Amino acid sequence: MKSTKAFVFDAYGTLFDVNSAAEKCKDKIGLKWEEFANFWRITQLEYTWLRSLMKRHKDFWKITEDSLEKSMQVFKIDPKMKGELLNLYKILSTYPEAKNVLSNLKKKGFKLAILSNGTPDLLNELVKSNNLVGIFDDLFSIEEVKIYKPDSRVYELPVKKYNIKPDDVTFLSANTWDVSGGGNYGYQAVWVNRNHATFDYLDFKPKYEVNNLTQLLKLI
Ligand code: LAC
Repeated sequence: MKSTKAFVFDAYGTLFDVNSAAEKCKDKIGLKWEEFANFWRITQLEYTWLRSLMKRHKDFWKITEDSLEKSMQVFKIDPKMKGELLNLYKILSTYPEAKNVLSNLKKKGFKLAILSNGTPDLLNELVKSNNLVGIFDDLFSIEEVKIYKPDSRVYELPVKKYNIKPDDVTFLSANTWDVSGGGNYGYQAVWVNRNHATFDYLDFKPKYEVNNLTQLLKLI
């Protein structure tokens, strides 16, 4: 891997398990919990893209709530569960290997940051509830530019702050379209392909592909 001045991580789906909120309620939701969680996630993402195109920005927390409303209606989930699901979304769990990999990179002296659609409050809460305080140099939120990924103004945030070149950044995301967005901007983009998925056809292929974050340590 080319030398890296900063490791920048996507948050939702890459470090933090977006399905973990619904999973914690699977006894109440039943067998459809995973399908429901996937629908909620894709609806949430669609709303970010649609709102950016419509130039009607709403923060990620409100979008998470709006997309939950729709998903609960579609899957006929008891409306009383809304508060519980939202509270759990604030404290999503990390993927099992994430902490270890982050501490390892930190010990090696790399600059570490999160770059996410999440609001600063949401990102701070996720870091706090997963005992990751002190690991990251920065938590970059799209709220600084009020447009969602994959707009280039988002990926520009760490480059501007650290005064480095786009390809000085190694960017990790499990979201194929986010890998394309970061790669399109000029990052060295690594796809965290946890589920042996198929990559997108958006004129960009990831520089590296790993199945989990631990494999990143072998690349550096
Ligand atoms: C994020 C979404 C894309 O954290 O997962 O920005």
